[in-house]
Amino acid sequence: MFTRMQDGTAEDWAVIGSAHAEHFKKTPAHLMDMLRSLEAVTVGFACDQLQHSLMTGTLARRDNASDEEVAIALLHDVGKAVNIPNHGAIGAELMRPYISEDAYHVIYNHQHFQGKYYYAYMGGNPNMRADSVNESWFSLAEKLVDRWDAPAFDPDYEVDSLESFEPLIQQIFAKPLRAL
Ligand SMILES: [Fe+2]
Repeated sequence: MFTRMQDGTAEDWAVIGSAHAEHFKKTPAHLMDMLRSLEAVTVGFACDQLQHSLMTGTLARRDNASDEEVAIALLHDVGKAVNIPNHGAIGAELMRPYISEDAYHVIYNHQHFQGKYYYAYMGGNPNMRADSVNESWFSLAEKLVDRWDAPAFDPDYEVDSLESFEPLIQQIFAKPLRAL
């Protein structure tokens, strides 16, 4: 195996390519681990961010959402496992190869939709969602935020288990939808 990329051969790249293909299979497990880690993140809310994520996913599931909608409801805050200020962008990029463009934009922008409920308390514009009203993903963002995400801070709500979502995560994140 080369020690400088300048010296790579077709054989080297075949080895690297198949090792990468094996590694890609770990994406669902990585996402599950990131969700689990959110149990340690409460940041002032009534429940931790794992409960919040599970409640958001559970509400979507009980609302007869599509598989992709349930998955992005569950995972919309997964970026908080890394960093909160730009968690929408982090989560959106993590999931981008595996989800629709509309779902990507919903994750990316969901905080501005939530701003309806709190930006005024922080001196911001609570109607930032108005900037996106003509986007194809606007109605999905409203649905995710208003019906599933914003109501999902109840520590006593009986959520479906993280494990119950694992087959869905395995299915959606098994293979990128398109080449990068
Ligand atoms: Fe959320």
